[in-house]
Amino acid sequence: MDLLATGQNSARLSASRAEHATTLRVDGDKSISHRAVLLAGLSEGSALVQGFLPGEDTLHTAKIMQAMGVSVQRLDHTSLRVQGKGLRGLQAPNVELDCGNSGTGMRLLAGVLCGQRFSSTLIGDASLSGRPMRRVIAPLHLMGAQIRGTEGRDTAPLQITPVQQLHGVEYQSPVASAQVKSCVLLAGLYADAASSVSEPEATRDHSERMLQAFGANVVYRPGYAKVEANPRLQAVDVHVPADPSSAAFFAVAAAICEGSEVRLQAVCINPRRIGIFTTLEEMGAELRYENLRTMGAEPVADIVVRGRGLKGVVVPPGRVADMIDEFPIFFIAASLAEGESLVAGAEELRVKESDRIGAMVRGLQSLGVAAEERPDGVRILGTPGGIGPQPVVIDSRGDHRIAMSFAIASLRAQADIKILDCANIATSFPSFLELAAQFGVRLSRG
Ligand code: S3P
Repeated sequence: MDLLATGQNSARLSASRAEHATTLRVDGDKSISHRAVLLAGLSEGSALVQGFLPGEDTLHTAKIMQAMGVSVQRLDHTSLRVQGKGLRGLQAPNVELDCGNSGTGMRLLAGVLCGQRFSSTLIGDASLSGRPMRRVIAPLHLMGAQIRGTEGRDTAPLQITPVQQLHGVEYQSPVASAQVKSCVLLAGLYADAASSVSEPEATRDHSERMLQAFGANVVYRPGYAKVEANPRLQAVDVHVPADPSSAAFFAVAAAICEGSEVRLQAVCINPRRIGIFTTLEEMGAELRYENLRTMGAEPVADIVVRGRGLKGVVVPPGRVADMIDEFPIFFIAASLAEGESLVAGAEELRVKESDRIGAMVRGLQSLGVAAEERPDGVRILGTPGGIGPQPVVIDSRGDHRIAMSFAIASLRAQADIKILDCANIATSFPSFLELAAQFGVRLSRG
């Protein structure tokens, strides 16, 4: 699916946006939704999951749990009733387990599957089949698991063969990745001793919080997590907050349109997920957290953003993990800021759903932005007056976040942007088109 985004960089837009603040509730958090259906399936009892992200990625994880005998009943668009099978109750699937586009699904499930008494195969789409899996295969091998990817490349499909017993591990991860950490912790549930992970930078701790809520014995602090083996997981209901990574698209939409305002409801403000909002504040956006509360194990707030002239910013390398999924939309904000913005230490962006440094820099350059590609980041010199003086065609490379970022950029582009290959928006943010229209982004299929 291609999208045509109408360039509308005009004073009129800012004026009309200023008149009415837009209130939006973005879809449920992707990371928490994956973990909710997974842990509920491994627990004893029945869990109601509300606010579940009805995106393709998380629905693939739900289907995989169903293929292993877990009852997942869809009550409505965003509510699931999951009847768990207990830690050792999963059944051998008689199909290959398809994770679609989802690295989170594949890496977390790899940990769970290595602890089972049956063989299994994890597969994914073309993008996922090119992504690095050695990062989970290596620690799983240390735990005694039998898992292998493609010869030489260690990519999906992943073939898992049962072993007698997994062993506890003290894993020093070379990469700051919540997926790797979560994979080891989940495999650790099936080990003969406790397992721990130390990370070079702290990453999101949703697995730790939710494991604890389900009754596992977990110790964690930024950069470290440890789980005891063989817990009895008890089902608990999960209320999934709105996804800060999805909210970020509209936070930036408001930030780049001076005078406009957006209220983003019930967003997860886990400290490891709000790097983009801190960065936008540093750039000069007016941002407030209101109505602070908790939803289950996670802190939540309404986030109000008001556009003001933005200035360039240097993103500290220590914040990269805290905004890892938000760089594509951050680059749009940087392109419309006064002065220079710099990102370094973000080489992980090259192994996401696409090479996000390459894809974004190419697209920004075609919009006339002075964006320079570096091995581990970018340098962007912003043009606060607007971008994209000529109509352009941008290839999203099938990456949902690249597609959505350029759709938001059209708010400040002078001419139309045609964005190719956008169907994967449905993997993480199925209501994006509807909410974008509410904000005033003019998008049509074509
Ligand atoms: C995720 C972790 C991050 C993030 C992804 C979701 C998770 O990936 O980019 O969208 O839910 O654990 P990495 O672990 O590869 O950094």
